[in-house]
Amino acid sequence: MSRNAYNTFAVAGASGSIGQAIARELLARGTNVTALSRTTLKDTVEGLEVRTVDYSDKTSLVEALRGVDVLVSTLSGGGYATQPALADAAKEAGVKLFAPSEFGMVTENTTYGLLGAKAQLHKYLESIGLPYVRLYTGMWSDVIFTPFFGYDLANRRVKLAGDGSASQSYTSEFDAAYYFAYILTHLPAERLAWSSFRLEGDRLTNLEAVRALEDFVGANFEIEWEDTEALKKKCEDEGLLNTIPENLRILWAEGYGTVGKNDNDLVPGWKPLTVAEALREYYTV
Ligand SMILES: NC(=O)c1ccc[n+]([C@@H]2O[C@H](COP(=O)([O-])OP(=O)(O)OC[C@H]3O[C@@H](n4cnc5c(N)ncnc54)[C@H](OP(=O)(O)O)[C@@H]3O)[C@@H](O)[C@H]2O)c1
Repeated sequence: MSRNAYNTFAVAGASGSIGQAIARELLARGTNVTALSRTTLKDTVEGLEVRTVDYSDKTSLVEALRGVDVLVSTLSGGGYATQPALADAAKEAGVKLFAPSEFGMVTENTTYGLLGAKAQLHKYLESIGLPYVRLYTGMWSDVIFTPFFGYDLANRRVKLAGDGSASQSYTSEFDAAYYFAYILTHLPAERLAWSSFRLEGDRLTNLEAVRALEDFVGANFEIEWEDTEALKKKCEDEGLLNTIPENLRILWAEGYGTVGKNDNDLVPGWKPLTVAEALREYYTV
């Protein structure tokens, strides 16, 4: 295995949550990292070069990406739709590898909701011949247990669709960023290209996750059971970008939550946090 197949990275959306974590980990490995941002970023990670771009202006993107080996997209929300244009610019600038904004459930060969929207980009990258590398992490154990996603720790309430028996993979953002930076700088180019990597710090059913929350808080939770069909209708009526938590709860209920056979052992000594450990590390009661 060769070290440092790649040394020059760009992170689109490095002002965001996982983007900042990945940029930090790549810099810690001594690589060159450029942040692409729509704004002039202030207070960024030390050593990060910032290039302000307009995602609708191909020339600005190509200029920003010249000399970059690997482009990691961590765009969210309306940013998903800009990724084909970003990929075109990357191809023209000579970028060798594109990591689409995945960082969640397995999306390949899916058509429904958020996963289907992400999967469309794979076909596009294949059509323009720009190799992708996809990182599937399950849910962020340090982010997901919040009211926005249906986990209200303060009021001991949880929203769940299905019957609670489906399993989810969970990984903390820091662990995922560490893993990704490691493989991007250690695996040979041919192992990274057109590949998916699956990692998880823990795997629990939805009900086991509720039990973990109860253990952490020291109190029982009330579960509000949601009807999957009613949630699907809400997503259709209100649009995907306005119903991401509902969309996730449908996908969790329908068994899309695990990463499958994981590739955890590719990173020597990698000991990601379990859900119980992440709760203790990142949440307060
Ligand atoms: N596994 C999980 O539990 C989990 C949870 C949340 C998110 N995710 C995934 O992680 C990825 C990144 O999400 P995140 O929460 O880290 O993102 P985030 O914190 O919202 O940051 C994403 C960045 O993308 C840029 N951006 C946002 N909207 C944009 C637009 N309309 N056009 C262009 N750029 C835009 C912004 O950067 P600038 O303002 O600097 O341009 C923003 O800081 C997504 O694929 C998301 O699905 C996974």
